[in-house]
Amino acid sequence: MKRIAKSDKEIYVFDNYSEISAYIISLWRQFSQNAIARHDYFAVALSGGKTPKKLYQVLAKHNDLPWNRTHIFQVDERFVKRDHPDSNYKLLNDNLFIPLNFPEKNIHGIKTDVPIDKSLMLYRYAINNFFHIADPAEPLTETAPPQFDLIMLGIGDDGHTASLFPFQLDTFDTPKNVVAASGSHVMHERVTLTLPVIRQAKNIIFLVVGDNKAEIVKRVIDNDPKLPASFVKPVDGKLIFVLDQAAASSL
Ligand code: 6PG
Repeated sequence: MKRIAKSDKEIYVFDNYSEISAYIISLWRQFSQNAIARHDYFAVALSGGKTPKKLYQVLAKHNDLPWNRTHIFQVDERFVKRDHPDSNYKLLNDNLFIPLNFPEKNIHGIKTDVPIDKSLMLYRYAINNFFHIADPAEPLTETAPPQFDLIMLGIGDDGHTASLFPFQLDTFDTPKNVVAASGSHVMHERVTLTLPVIRQAKNIIFLVVGDNKAEIVKRVIDNDPKLPASFVKPVDGKLIFVLDQAAASSL
């Protein structure tokens, strides 16, 4: 593993995906222990896409992690049925929840079997309720962004992250915790955590592999203001890039 020094982010480069998963699992262990010692739960939001699948499969072999106290939320979701190949819930379910026999009550998924407005409302409500950040009389009025203990993100070829796409400012600058993302560039409608929520996290990990991502990774690390992923600046948490050699080859 090689560490690249930057003042505002930690960047680690690995030779292969098994080293990447072993490193992320060591962080997961450390972050979950700290979070549970602090508030008795470990709240994580996980992304979809292709890159994290193998990581979720390896995580699912770690029965020794504190799964009963771990609460898993989704970073974002494509608005398709949960058995659709593009469903992020399906990715988590097939590779993590089912193999681990993960406690149902600790899964906080984005529903896609209801109209999208209802799904947004239910997910906002689930988050506000879990983190106690809403006025009980107005459960859908966020009083502050929730603080996840860990948010796992990827970076798309166009520099998007979560479902925060270039030029969709309503998904960036909003008091809401969850919004819909749509537009001609998005194949399915999406539901996503917003930038204020992502920035509030205690720990954020960008997991990016492959030489097709090398240029975009460099631009994000150099804070290119045209790319949504560059806006991911933690309020007071940690920002960690975990890359393979190929994704780091332009750095
Ligand atoms: C999703 C995520 C998206 C993803 C990037 C990278 O697809 O569900 O919203 O932000 O993390 O597009 O995707 P890959 O890992 O497939 O390259």
